[in-house]
Amino acid sequence: MLIVNVVGARPNFMKIAPVVKAMCRAGLPQVLVHTGQHYDERMSHLFFEQLEIPAPDLNLEVGSGSQALQTAEIMRRFEPVVVERRPDLVVVVGDVNSTLACALVAAKLGIAVAHIEAGLRSFDRTMPEEINRVVTDTLSDFLFVSERSGVENLRHEGVPDHKVHFVGNVMIDTLLRHRQAAAHSDILRRLGMDSGAPFALVTLHRPSNVDDPEKLRALLRALGELARDLAVVFPIHPRTHKNALEAGLEPELARLLITEPLGYLEFLHLMSNAKMVITDSGGIQEETTVLGVPCLTVRENTERPATIECGTNRLVGTDPTAMLAAARQALNGRRPSGRLPELWDGHAAERIVDILAQQFLAKAA
Ligand code: UD1
Repeated sequence: MLIVNVVGARPNFMKIAPVVKAMCRAGLPQVLVHTGQHYDERMSHLFFEQLEIPAPDLNLEVGSGSQALQTAEIMRRFEPVVVERRPDLVVVVGDVNSTLACALVAAKLGIAVAHIEAGLRSFDRTMPEEINRVVTDTLSDFLFVSERSGVENLRHEGVPDHKVHFVGNVMIDTLLRHRQAAAHSDILRRLGMDSGAPFALVTLHRPSNVDDPEKLRALLRALGELARDLAVVFPIHPRTHKNALEAGLEPELARLLITEPLGYLEFLHLMSNAKMVITDSGGIQEETTVLGVPCLTVRENTERPATIECGTNRLVGTDPTAMLAAARQALNGRRPSGRLPELWDGHAAERIVDILAQQFLAKAA
């Protein structure tokens, strides 16, 4: 009996960490494959260290590329691994290119696929992640769902009920486990922000927001305007940084407190203490919901509606003026109150592993 767990990009690491631990406890034999989609120390290795994930058994070192090139290269390098190891199951998480590529390889070799974070839908096919979600779910045998909307979406798509397991959110398992440790981070002092003055925390990296130089300029200018009211801390994603420099946007960046990408604990500490978070990330919408911090999502849609229905998330769209107005409103208005979505209780990975253990250990016995 063997399970291959796959990770590739930064948001995968928080999701796989509790799963690997729970599999260890349950005695499920596993190997961890890193595709190498993210490779910088601060986008990858640092997370293994802070989240205490064992080093990958294998790194495919695919690196960056266009959508097709990267996906194809992951497939090319993952196929021999599956052929050689003949696992009983390949586990993929989230919605990045590594998720799709490895699910596709496994399914074509007749190996069962488990998708953690299945069923989320933005209904926006211009996002590469939406295509990755839809295709991965189509190929999966175990669909582990983090919020109720996912169950509904899969039902509408005709996925049989016995494949769908509503288990809660593994990313929140990780947050709850590391919240205390993050509170000891000295990142605020290191940024010169330990006076207690309010600050906004920003992340932007969606191609639709940062790949068009004019769009990026306008968003950075709006954030620069906000910086008149409160400090704007922006740990900048390599994609965004590269695009900003190529477009000559140094003056726009200079009005913000720009840092390199941060580790998990440092970023969690900043989120916990921020007056508001402005983001186009998926996972951050969920994390701010649990932390009770106002989140302004710079997108037209979200695949995570529970963060709006239960949590502190607001879709503000991608128009820079509207984003600025929403941020000023959040600054002066009452802090929204939220509640936790169902099963976001720190035990999602255990539920997943219980289901897998029942299935596979029983069969092996
Ligand atoms: C990927 C995911 C996205 C996720 C994001 C989190 C897909 C389609 N996108 O987007 O869903 O939200 O990760 O970060 O899978 N780069 C580096 N160092 C690295 C990795 C990337 O400098 O370690 C730079 C390269 O210039 C690269 C660019 O960032 O071309 C984009 O990386 P890529 O993995 O293609 O996509 P992300 O924008 O990171």
